[in-house]
Amino acid sequence: MAKPNAPAEPGNLKDIIAHAKEYGFVFPSSEIYDGLAAVYDYGQMGVELKNNLKQLWWRSMTQLHPNVVGIDAAIFMHPLTWKASGHVDSFNDPMIDNRDSKKRYRADQLLEAKAEQYAAAGDPDKGQGLLYRMAALLGAEDLEGVRQLIISEGIKCPISGTDNWTEVRQFNLMFSTQIGSVAEDSATIYLRPETAQGIFVNFLNVYKSGRMKIPFGIAQIGKAFRNEIVARQFIFRMREFEQMEMQFFVRPGTEMEWYEKWRDARLKWHQAIGLPAGKLKFHIHEKLAHYANAAVDIEFEFPFGFKEMEGIHSRTDFDLTSHQELSKKKMQYFDPEINQNYIPYVVETSVGADRLFLAVLCNAYTEETTVEEGVEKKRTYLKLHPAIAPVKAAVLPVTKKDGLPEKAQEIFNLLRFDVPTIYEEKDSMGKRYTRQDLIGTPFCITIDHQTLEDNTVTIRHRDTMEQERVPADELVGRITYATSFKRIFEQL
Ligand code: GAP
Repeated sequence: MAKPNAPAEPGNLKDIIAHAKEYGFVFPSSEIYDGLAAVYDYGQMGVELKNNLKQLWWRSMTQLHPNVVGIDAAIFMHPLTWKASGHVDSFNDPMIDNRDSKKRYRADQLLEAKAEQYAAAGDPDKGQGLLYRMAALLGAEDLEGVRQLIISEGIKCPISGTDNWTEVRQFNLMFSTQIGSVAEDSATIYLRPETAQGIFVNFLNVYKSGRMKIPFGIAQIGKAFRNEIVARQFIFRMREFEQMEMQFFVRPGTEMEWYEKWRDARLKWHQAIGLPAGKLKFHIHEKLAHYANAAVDIEFEFPFGFKEMEGIHSRTDFDLTSHQELSKKKMQYFDPEINQNYIPYVVETSVGADRLFLAVLCNAYTEETTVEEGVEKKRTYLKLHPAIAPVKAAVLPVTKKDGLPEKAQEIFNLLRFDVPTIYEEKDSMGKRYTRQDLIGTPFCITIDHQTLEDNTVTIRHRDTMEQERVPADELVGRITYATSFKRIFEQL
């Protein structure tokens, strides 16, 4: 039996993107027309993995917390929603164009990259100073100042190599469209840039219809849309993506306690699904969004560095108060314990399903060198937690004769009602194992001549390649236990 004798190496992004496409995880959108920037489709394996992650999040939120319930709000919302939330007025990115290359950049990202260069060259203070100056200029909406800073820092367009920059303009990230069938009646509405507002506008509905008692949460999974200026890093920054958000409504004054609880709970969750502690860290926000009084990101170490995967924000009563002002509906909760009406404060957890998917995929992608009978062999496999793997088991008869396919079909039929299972009889065992490794199937069940004699099968474990012989009658119990969400829930 071959044993891994070289440490698993983290894959680089290029290899992971190629793997994702080749094995049906992620495809560029409308690829036959050369794709659409920052838009991606999930393939036959990707959709299973993503659904598993979403289900895991949903059930962790709603099933493990009796005071958290879910909703599914529409993508289109009344346009005033986005006025109240601040997105119409301030959901902007500063952009700048290079006149020679005609390429568009985010002005803040050009300066951040420069600050990183200073840090990499051993002068982090200079980098930090630059970031402070940028924050001050953006805060004062001094866009000409931002442009001058880019020029004085000697920042050039990487394509044209010139600093022939246009002025800096604020660019609203919301996509708009028209609602209504006739032009005169139509009104501009937006594709939601976050799912959270669907929760805020339903606060009263859920509180009253569910007879909820504070503290309580509302969870939602759904699409969000942002017209990102710079599309980068595969599914990390997309124009159409999915968020998994939970707003936790609390009594004012208790929000910091809940903020800390949810921050820690969410970090633990990421570790429970298999992301290593060493690849996760908190990044506390110094500069807070207009709605927050505390905010932290959970960052994951992607192949391109530590980057935000989830945000935990203490959003105060900003959103409910704004909705109350614009809708003229009282967004109040009556707290029987203190006999008072108030607008609740909110702690939000917000994780991108696609970023989580990318983190899980990057972490799982493993290239290993093994030595079999003196010959070096390379093995690539996805070390996914069995509970989230797209396929849990593959049933493989060693030959296509002697009644083995029939016996294997019997075992396949036993398993497939409990877990996603596939049956394969084509090609050598080695090739079939390789195919399962590449999509991350944790268990391969082999049916051989001994199976016909004593009704035992072998289970081959993906990560160790070890095989064990077990009675076929034990299969359903063993595989369902090993791949159940329960194993993750028990760690939370
Ligand atoms: N409701 C709060 C909110 O939307 P955010 O930090 O803008 O906060 C939350 O987004 C999460 O949504 C991020 O941590 C990230 O995982 C995901 N996300 C945001 N923009 C994204 C994009 N363009 N592509 C993919 N995921 C994105």
